[in-house]
Amino acid sequence: MKALEVISHKRDGGEHTPEEINFLLSGYLRGEVPDYQMAAWLMAVCIRGMSRAETLTLTQAMVASGEVLDLHAIPGIKVDKHSTGGVGDKVTLIAAPLAAACGVKVPKLSGRALAHTGGTLDKLESVPGLTVDLEPERFIEQVRAVGIAVAAQSPRIVPADKLLYALRDVTATVPSIPLIASSVMSKKIAAGADAIVLDVKFGRGAFMPDEASAEELASEMVQLGEGAGRRTVALVTAMDNPLGVTVGNALEVQEALDALSGKGDEELLEVCARVTREMCELAGVKANVAEVLGSGAGRQKFEQMLSAQGGHLERGLPTAAVQSEVTADRDGYVAGIDALEIGLAGIDLGAGRVRKEDKVDPSAGFTVDAPVGEHVGKGQSLVTVHARSQELIDRVAPRLRAAWRLSDREVRRPPHVLARVDKNGVTKGD
Ligand code: URA
Repeated sequence: MKALEVISHKRDGGEHTPEEINFLLSGYLRGEVPDYQMAAWLMAVCIRGMSRAETLTLTQAMVASGEVLDLHAIPGIKVDKHSTGGVGDKVTLIAAPLAAACGVKVPKLSGRALAHTGGTLDKLESVPGLTVDLEPERFIEQVRAVGIAVAAQSPRIVPADKLLYALRDVTATVPSIPLIASSVMSKKIAAGADAIVLDVKFGRGAFMPDEASAEELASEMVQLGEGAGRRTVALVTAMDNPLGVTVGNALEVQEALDALSGKGDEELLEVCARVTREMCELAGVKANVAEVLGSGAGRQKFEQMLSAQGGHLERGLPTAAVQSEVTADRDGYVAGIDALEIGLAGIDLGAGRVRKEDKVDPSAGFTVDAPVGEHVGKGQSLVTVHARSQELIDRVAPRLRAAWRLSDREVRRPPHVLARVDKNGVTKGD
């Protein structure tokens, strides 16, 4: 078999045999298939697609490229949660400890900011002293003792994804449903949990452009999870506007702490409660999520987790040197806030990265003062920018003002959870 034959087979719209996929991936990992041939194949997959059987073979081959975490030492059903990425998406910081407070065991491996979307690890690292680098033994021990650990994925887990992802990132081959599904699910399967709740986002601030493609991605991922023997449920959620009222690492940790005390944006609290309920159901845990939230047990669990990972909340979260408002240039109702523009403005402030090796500024970000549905008068604040300098704020202000779409007519917030997908299919609505 030759790489050239495998590439032409896909270029011409053929369906790969498992042998072809295994040959190409293992050859690439050994350095025998060069980047340019792999990139050509990735582009062929982007254009021609892959069948469910091909995607499953690719996912299994990716899982087999590295270690699989063995979580048997943790009693009970372990539930993981994953989001495909968004702007202001701090759901993991709220739903995961809340689920742990309800009695679910939550071993969670997370990622860093990707493109304009935020990363849970970067957010957690804004807590002074906290580490996300937990060796497997410490990770497992923490889940046993505290009920939850959120850590960085070891480079020994799915090394194939690291290589493929870097190549996709620079060859315009990220937005492909089989490639995203195999990338995400290989990591979730290798992370060892028994059940997985996926939050598949679509819209301006997400990687999937519309509800139909998010639903297709969700179905693909659910089937991959179930095919690997993991109970998997996906929620399809809107990401046109940033989620909640903050964007930025330390700001989002503070918003999560407030939400876990029952205070905060209604939509954020609703989606977190929904994700938590799904996690409890998969774990077979009967709990009244609203009651647990109201009791403050979720916040206690989050603080316990932060401190188990070396975090010292009592030293305070970092705050920006300058905080300045960007104001509306006319009256109106807020009809939309372009999440992509907010994410990109966040990168300009240093809340995300331009290059892989960049350090994030934990204190940089935004507090949304005029959320969707609210009426603002000319000169009133749309958003407070938190940054290292006024110069940075002046630079992002025009982009931010343009991100706010104002309407003369009253606006109602659109629904956030659009569909639920499990092994039996798609259920529309909240
Ligand atoms: N997140 C991933 O882990 N992989 C993708 O391909 C896209 C988003």
